[in-house]
Amino acid sequence: MKVAVVGAGYVGVVTGAGLAALGHTVVCVDLDPDKVKAIAAARAPFFEPGLDEVLARELAAGRLSAFTDLAASLAGSDISIIAVGTPSRAGGIDLADVRGAARAIGALLPSLGRYHVVVVKSTVVPSTTDTVVRQELESASGMDAGPDFGLAMNPEFLSEGRAVEDFTKPDRIVVGALDERTADAMEELYAGFDCPILRTSPRNAEMIKYAANTLFATLISFSNEIAGLCEAIPGLDEEVVMRGLRLDRRWWTPGDRGERVHPGALAYLRAGIGFGGSCFPKDLAAICGFAESRGVAMPVLGAVIEVNGMRASRVVDLLAKRLGPLRDKRVAVLGLAFKPETDDVRESPGVKIVNVLLGRGANVAVHDPIVRMEAVRAGLDGHVTQAKDPVEAASGADALVVATGWDPYRRLDWSRVASAMRTPIILDGRQIVDAARLPAGVTLINIGFGFENEARGAAQAAVSPGIA
Ligand code: UDX
Repeated sequence: MKVAVVGAGYVGVVTGAGLAALGHTVVCVDLDPDKVKAIAAARAPFFEPGLDEVLARELAAGRLSAFTDLAASLAGSDISIIAVGTPSRAGGIDLADVRGAARAIGALLPSLGRYHVVVVKSTVVPSTTDTVVRQELESASGMDAGPDFGLAMNPEFLSEGRAVEDFTKPDRIVVGALDERTADAMEELYAGFDCPILRTSPRNAEMIKYAANTLFATLISFSNEIAGLCEAIPGLDEEVVMRGLRLDRRWWTPGDRGERVHPGALAYLRAGIGFGGSCFPKDLAAICGFAESRGVAMPVLGAVIEVNGMRASRVVDLLAKRLGPLRDKRVAVLGLAFKPETDDVRESPGVKIVNVLLGRGANVAVHDPIVRMEAVRAGLDGHVTQAKDPVEAASGADALVVATGWDPYRRLDWSRVASAMRTPIILDGRQIVDAARLPAGVTLINIGFGFENEARGAAQAAVSPGIA
């Protein structure tokens, strides 16, 4: 099929490249000529492992191209996919770009001279596709959705850092179509995938996206709430508590060889420094704002936001409990990206921790394998130095916080890091530091584990191995 993807942001480029890899002819369209140039040169306008390779392959095969001209991109196409941003705006989302894209596509529909399906991929609150987007398309085209053109909502489930794999090996595809003809066209688009396709209405598709993201955010805030109690009561250990929880048979199914197979979702049942990124915080705020506007209370999701909002200061409290007042203390923070394998710092919990530390008068040095200071400076409430490596960040530090679970931080030479520090106190905000690899004399502060009792290793050993 011939596909135009409108919006060359994260979702648009991954989707465009992925559809080209499925054999479709895809044009990525964006108003920004720099983005278009970058894609045409096989450079994604953001960091995403493996994506540049797919872009290069599909560009070379002639299945992928990038343009600023929407009319030329849409000519002869079967499907256009709206993948523009829906930024947060006062308790909701800003639909200006979605509306703009729908109007621009609508204006071109009459000239296409063939059946065309418009797909909303951007995350939008329930009823946006069949009201706002539909109206924009119909008024710009003078045509009727249904008889004259197709309309669908098709949410993305792409995790940053593993988006290429998420696209090429989807767990499910949700097609919220206005009618059967649209749904059939969408099934043809995804015919190369071997996964369940859930055909439903646009509204259910929109809600599935919010329900999915807010469920995972809920698991994280739940874990952090349990961790908060564990931190306050000597002898409690969140890690062991979560292991005990995972052993419940309702979480697992027997695998081919009779082994217990846990759903990957259980990874979210671990405490940490809170969630961030471009989706969870925004989607929670948007769905709560939407529910409120419709007079529906969402107390659970409200609490999920509240727990997450407190997380950075709770984590810094843990540090202060050991270190004393933080004024004029030097603290190293490892990790600015909101999670590993991405350079995205939107709503990054690491950045929030830096700000809490600054607010309490600490001097902060940061390190991140790929995020540069320029990307975060505007969001920082004070002066911070950026180190070229973790040892430099730790140099002279009174404490160090691991704020992103980058793989290189798992393999750090802790002897070098600790000997560079003034006092070797390490707070593992991501539960990635292997206590057995720490040199003698280091104080490891774990999330979900009161430091009065430092025998976390002993508590772990009491759990039979083999249950992740
Ligand atoms: C998410 C969804 O997972 C994806 O399906 C959706 O389409 C877009 O939003 P993403 O924002 O890339 O993707 O990140 P994800 O890996 O789900 O993590 C979100 C946040 O939760 C991050 O801050 C991450 O660090 C945090 N997290 C994740 C945890 O704190 N613990 C975990 O176990 C997993």
